[in-house]
Amino acid sequence: LASQLLSEQLKESAKQVNVLLNKIVSVDLEPPFIYQASRHLIDAGGKRARPFLTLKSCELVGGKIEDALPVAVAIELLHTFTLIHDDIMDSDTKRRGLPSVHAKWGIPIAITAGDLLFAKVYESVLQYTKTNKLEPVKVLEALDLITQTTIAICEGQALDVMFEDMEAISEDEYFKMIGKKTASLLKASAQVGAIVGGGSESQIKSVGDFAFYTGLAFQIIDDILGLTADEKALGKPVGSDIREGKRTLIMIYALKNSNKDLKKQILSTLGNSDASLKEIQATIEAVKKTRAIKYSMNKAKNLSVKAKRAMSTFPASQVKDLLLEFNDHLVKRKH
Ligand code: IPE
Ligand code: IPE
Ligand code: MG
Ligand code: MG
Repeated sequence: LASQLLSEQLKESAKQVNVLLNKIVSVDLEPPFIYQASRHLIDAGGKRARPFLTLKSCELVGGKIEDALPVAVAIELLHTFTLIHDDIMDSDTKRRGLPSVHAKWGIPIAITAGDLLFAKVYESVLQYTKTNKLEPVKVLEALDLITQTTIAICEGQALDVMFEDMEAISEDEYFKMIGKKTASLLKASAQVGAIVGGGSESQIKSVGDFAFYTGLAFQIIDDILGLTADEKALGKPVGSDIREGKRTLIMIYALKNSNKDLKKQILSTLGNSDASLKEIQATIEAVKKTRAIKYSMNKAKNLSVKAKRAMSTFPASQVKDLLLEFNDHLVKRKH
């Protein structure tokens, strides 16, 4: 029953967010092709998980959902911008079931489409200054958080790329990297909602902790699905982390806990962009033998528990239950 309610609420929140997204990145803007490229992933869908966090965190602290829509949209725009650039960085040609932006329009236009969406993030937040729906000091607080989060994402993405060429990466280094590239944005998504909703400092902190640990678990699951999911359902390439040489938690564990033969198999494909599908499949089998996927799944589950514990400071409510259910849903997802 709880999961049915969540899926209805996710749909409803996505609908509200899409209306405003379609306004701010309108099909009527010119020149058309740069807006087509910028809108490509927005139209392709996606879970809209981050704006959901924003809207529900606003509600959690007693705010009105309508008042959080411009920041929720800003967060999804920021996410979309990072996805466009991420696919260039990761040489991934599929996203949300369609060709990625650079695969369709080329790298120069994809870079520009990303930059355009990044500016739209600010345009969206600055709408508050025209509608007077939010005190200027809160607008600045939201802009500050979004700015600092973008810096963190860039730092995390830089570490992600840098780790590809490094020998041994520790779990601590991995968690620092995903904390910056992924969990920081989930944290900001929740906090920006709590800020515009008028939450207290301690409420903003608690919901931020909840979203941060949810974000760490979320990225571990993303890495697992990147090896084990059905590519069609996932909508993005499976096995490409191996070819790119990504140091996921799974890979770190597998390399540390493999015998000579398994290690040889893994290293023959890790970072080898020419590895065939068959070789990639052999590596996925080798990784499974080290129990790295079980290990990583377990870590994600523990982080999910840690996240939910951060919510204990909020009194019981329907929206609190919904956020806890949302955390479970993200960890259990299959795509
Ligand atoms: C993908 O995020 C990037 C990661 C941080 C793992 P999502 O899995 O939320 O992607 P969409 O928005 O649903 O496509
Ligand atoms: C996630 O990157 C973080 C950002 C996009 C900033 P990944 O490279 O791990 O995510 P996917 O698997 O391509 O969506
Ligand atoms: Mg990627
Ligand atoms: Mg990446």
